[in-house]
Amino acid sequence: MRINKNINIDFDSIPIETFWNTGDKIENRMHRIHAYPAKFPAFITSKAIKYVEEQKDVNINWVADMFCGCGTTAYEATRNGKNFWGSDINPVATLIAKTKSQIYKDKTLRVYFDVINVEFRKNKISQDETQNINERIKYWFKEEQIKDLFKLKYSIYESIPKKSKYLNFFLTAFSNILKPTSVWLTKSIKPQVDPNKKPANVIDAFIKQFEMMRKANLKNDIDKKSTVKIENINFIEKEMKKPFVDLIVTSPPYVTSYEYADLHQLSTLWLDYVKDYKDLREGTIGSLYHNSDFTKDAKLLNKTGEDIVFKLYNKDKRKAQSTAKYFVDMQKTIKKSYDMLNMNGRALFVIGNTEYKNIRINNAKHLIESMLNVGFKDIEITKRKISNKILTPYRDKNGKFTTDKNSRKVYAEEFIVIGRK
Ligand SMILES: C[S@@+](CC[C@H](N)C(=O)[O-])C[C@H]1O[C@@H](n2cnc3c(N)ncnc32)[C@H](O)[C@@H]1O
Repeated sequence: MRINKNINIDFDSIPIETFWNTGDKIENRMHRIHAYPAKFPAFITSKAIKYVEEQKDVNINWVADMFCGCGTTAYEATRNGKNFWGSDINPVATLIAKTKSQIYKDKTLRVYFDVINVEFRKNKISQDETQNINERIKYWFKEEQIKDLFKLKYSIYESIPKKSKYLNFFLTAFSNILKPTSVWLTKSIKPQVDPNKKPANVIDAFIKQFEMMRKANLKNDIDKKSTVKIENINFIEKEMKKPFVDLIVTSPPYVTSYEYADLHQLSTLWLDYVKDYKDLREGTIGSLYHNSDFTKDAKLLNKTGEDIVFKLYNKDKRKAQSTAKYFVDMQKTIKKSYDMLNMNGRALFVIGNTEYKNIRINNAKHLIESMLNVGFKDIEITKRKISNKILTPYRDKNGKFTTDKNSRKVYAEEFIVIGRK
């Protein structure tokens, strides 16, 4: 459906377009080297490139994703021979994205792996070192694993030069074994302790992880000639000097669905990205924990944002405040997206609508109004079926997640919104 001015359409009746539902091929193994809760399907980027190139009014040279997460768009853009620029506020995300955007020599990987192993066996950790460790690490890990993880981390840093791309490869491997070696409830993406869990042995987990990543690298099919730039920044604060991008493919964070920053706390703590994992919440779009000025935010909201926030305010003031901040942040994101695009460049957003205490949070409508306000043209909206969401799509009558299939489906579909500069 094409939208040029009137946004008062029935979003529920927009038909599902099968083109965006599934990919033609199985995702490349590189997409699975590290878990990332909010990852979106890889094929969307390849399809977006194809879809826009068929319209023949823009030459796609640079693809961007300002919420690049674990680098899904980055990987797919480079596989298609495009250059890529991306950002994410979460250092764990940019670590994985950078790792995925490189090809590694198998022989070198094996040499480094052996050196790390030798170092690991030589390394001794003093009592003092583990004693002074962050309290939060002690909360998630048993003593044996803390000692071994300490040794492993130092062995990695001692074995690989600081600026080498191989360091990122092994830090990504280290990061992905933190969950199995901790007491974090295995199947849960949310932070939850399993008191009965027997954490995996560190070196066994590392060997398994290394082999998995090594095999994935052998099938890595990115174009070596592509340029990839990934920044660990708050996109809203990025200085945009001049346009340089031809296509944006992104899935923005959702409003307060979960605290993205908290989900990666094991990695952020171990890799010394922050002292307190909660520090990463500030700046993360959609976080509940902002020191925002509600009166100021409310004045900046567009009409759709204002309507939704007003309804929420009558039920839950705190939720209304965080939603206002979310919408204002998204409006700034849309403006910056427009600024970074070359003429005729396209922006594709994957976005879903949610609900809170029976109030419809029409993110898609808010997004489209924001796009129209900054000058996007020929906006198209289509719907796709979500096939592999980790979160159950059902909600009970109180709005809580449930596996009961008779309950309301909330996340079973999402929108693809495309606009032209
Ligand atoms: C829905 S996820 C995107 C996942 C990505 N498409 C993938 O496949 O991995 C949204 C991402 O936005 C990031 N984010 C939130 N606020 C941000 C900000 N202010 N600047 C940059 N990135 C931000 C989060 O860290 C998260 O990785």
